[in-house]
Amino acid sequence: MTLQEIDAAKEAALAEIAAAKDEAGVEAARVKFLGRNGSLPAMMKGLRDVAPADKPAFGQALNALRAAVSAALEERKAAVAAQSGPRDSFDFSLPGNWRGTGAIHPVSEVIEETTRIFARLGFTVADGPDIETEFNNFDALNTAKHHPSRDERDTFWLGPELLLRTQTSPVQIRAMLAKKPPVRIINPGRCYRRDTTDATHAANFHQIEGLYVDVVPVSLADLKSTLAHFAREMMGPSVQVRFRPHFFPFTEPSVEVDFSCHVCKGKGCAVCKQSGWIEVMGAGIVDTRVFGKVGYDPDCYGYAFGMGVERIAMIKHGVTDLRTLYANDLRYLREFL
Ligand code: DAH
Repeated sequence: MTLQEIDAAKEAALAEIAAAKDEAGVEAARVKFLGRNGSLPAMMKGLRDVAPADKPAFGQALNALRAAVSAALEERKAAVAAQSGPRDSFDFSLPGNWRGTGAIHPVSEVIEETTRIFARLGFTVADGPDIETEFNNFDALNTAKHHPSRDERDTFWLGPELLLRTQTSPVQIRAMLAKKPPVRIINPGRCYRRDTTDATHAANFHQIEGLYVDVVPVSLADLKSTLAHFAREMMGPSVQVRFRPHFFPFTEPSVEVDFSCHVCKGKGCAVCKQSGWIEVMGAGIVDTRVFGKVGYDPDCYGYAFGMGVERIAMIKHGVTDLRTLYANDLRYLREFL
């Protein structure tokens, strides 16, 4: 190898790169000169045979060759890209494809709005998996061993102790196992039950769970005022809220909470089945037995609630059949924009 040969190789490479017509041509030239089996690496290997005194000069010449070839490749690549750019191949006068604007699904909207309302009250969003343990979904929530909700006809069992959660309440357990009081969480999520789908039931639906536990007294009055505040923020100032005594294994006392029907303003219509009220959630004061299951001091105080997201979306928008929310008819969903 001589310095003249290096010069000649440079000339030849630059001429070939300049002649490349398209991107593929530029790439072929790159492989030929700089690629692993290309001519430059071969010359680099040849450096071994150069007399030690000449090595610096040869090294410099080869580096200059590499720099010149790389620069020429970049430049040519940009030039051919500009030539074959969209201006040649794209006809701007063609009519465009119409792409519909998306809308937030009413279920997502209720979830977002609810978490915003509770975030303003100091609740943070917690999360839990759809696949739960029997312990989190039932045992720790003080559900009797033979409670009918554990039945195979109600719960999707995945194994002896694994199931698709039937409620978001197991996230209460996860939150309390993870942290000492005070705990103030809100958790939206999917739930699963072996329900036959009809106008008001689905095998897969959404709930939002709330839990507040503290070492200072937390009373039913706190729960009532918090939920009444939520109802007004969500449905508007004229909504009425009604608490009915109920039973849940994990709260004592327990209540069911109804909102006055948004559609008929309480007069009675098809949405509220003529009653003027719609049941939207279960709630109550956390049973001390639940505190025991998570290693909390039984002297803690707390309230919890769990609401049906589809229910709220339905009354908010006057939807009479839950199935329409999941029919994926964009014309219908766009109504909620
Ligand atoms: N998990 C209950 C259900 O699915 C709803 C519920 C009731 C949640 C009372 C609660 C609660 O947190 O305190 O029917």
